[in-house]
Amino acid sequence: GGAVDTGGGAAEHQHLGGRSVTELTGTDTAAAGDAAVDRFTLTAQEATVRLDSGEQVAAWTFNGVTPGPQLLVRQGDLVEVTLVNRLPGVGVTLHWHGVDVPNAMDGVAGVTQDAVAPGASFVYRFRAVQAGTYWYHSHEMSSVQVRRGLFGALVVLPRDAPVRDDDTVDETVLRHIWGNEDGVATLGLASGVQRRAVPPGRQVRLRLVNTDGDPATFTLTGAPVRVAAIDGTDVHEPGVLPGARILVGGGARYDLVFTMPDQPVTLRADGPAIVYSPHGDAGPDSAAAPPVLDPARYGTPAATAFGADSHFDRRFTLRLDERLGFYDGRPAVRYTLNDATFPDVPMLMVSDGDLVEVTYVNRSGQHHPMHLHGHHMLVLSRDGRTTTGSPWWVDTLDVGPGETYRVAFRADNPGMWMDHCHNLEHAASGMILHLGYT
Ligand code: C2O
Ligand code: CU
Repeated sequence: GGAVDTGGGAAEHQHLGGRSVTELTGTDTAAAGDAAVDRFTLTAQEATVRLDSGEQVAAWTFNGVTPGPQLLVRQGDLVEVTLVNRLPGVGVTLHWHGVDVPNAMDGVAGVTQDAVAPGASFVYRFRAVQAGTYWYHSHEMSSVQVRRGLFGALVVLPRDAPVRDDDTVDETVLRHIWGNEDGVATLGLASGVQRRAVPPGRQVRLRLVNTDGDPATFTLTGAPVRVAAIDGTDVHEPGVLPGARILVGGGARYDLVFTMPDQPVTLRADGPAIVYSPHGDAGPDSAAAPPVLDPARYGTPAATAFGADSHFDRRFTLRLDERLGFYDGRPAVRYTLNDATFPDVPMLMVSDGDLVEVTYVNRSGQHHPMHLHGHHMLVLSRDGRTTTGSPWWVDTLDVGPGETYRVAFRADNPGMWMDHCHNLEHAASGMILHLGYT
């Protein structure tokens, strides 16, 4: 993880939440039309939690745990989440990261709703249209609130998948660097190896989530593995790999699938590791690290509704850069969009139905995971090379130093949306703009 802090010292710990993730299945109470309703309550509250490092910290949690409870819902269902705020003196919201919800449900404090005040509550309702791996987090002062623990996973199971499937191990692994602002600089990484006993032959699906701003390196060794989905959208390339090393950008998700072999399989997120073992033992972790996976494919053209050669109704270029400025009254690096910082970055204006092309040009020395709310972007090209293989859809695209990406999306979800760097400290320093509909 990288620099966390914009003010005071910060305690930080890398936290790798695997099966320890608390899971909630919605109470399936009523049917809306022919769809079920999955109801949940998430209560924002302070709690003392134990990080993987062993350290006990005073975190901000949903329902007393961080990561917050994993919300497990079925594709097509109506999801209804009541957010209750019991934090002292701070407002919170819930943003459904990667889910293209109606604008009023997007949870952006000051844009789509007011922050939910202490003692108050708010009900979010949206349909789980697309199966996949998503996450939720507070979107009020998010650089502080997410780091302190106000986030969790949202998993949408395919329409016909059983909620409990004994032949499949389905596990979400959130990688988080915890931190607060109490001035205690106890920088640390979790080192404990977690173990899971998994019988040979069992299918394992790992849903990797990076809640941090910098890319996290996830490495899986010990079994042939397939990348099944990126940012909640299935991919069919590059097929089965001998192992995987993946730079999961800030806010992004990757789903990996493998069949449990007779030997241990190790998943490592930078330092911390989880070992999946047929016998519950640790086993050797000696396999050489595989090469880094490149999600961009340049092979067979894929059938998508639009592509690099389409006619675009609007084209925008966003230059990601850095410059010295002031932040909270002190000299600091500011991250800029077209040489401006929020709220001075001009809005992207579109009309309903437009096909929109955006070119992200990173002139800075940092990674900027650009997250567009309410829409999914198809990656058209990187550094001038057209991507043509398995359609690569993202909601959060890590644009590395010096890189240029062309992406496209269909403007089909009217409202006022954010497009911002998901390095939330960069966003707090001004790397935010809005997408609006005329
Ligand atoms: Cu995951 Cu605007 O945020
Ligand atoms: Cu950034």
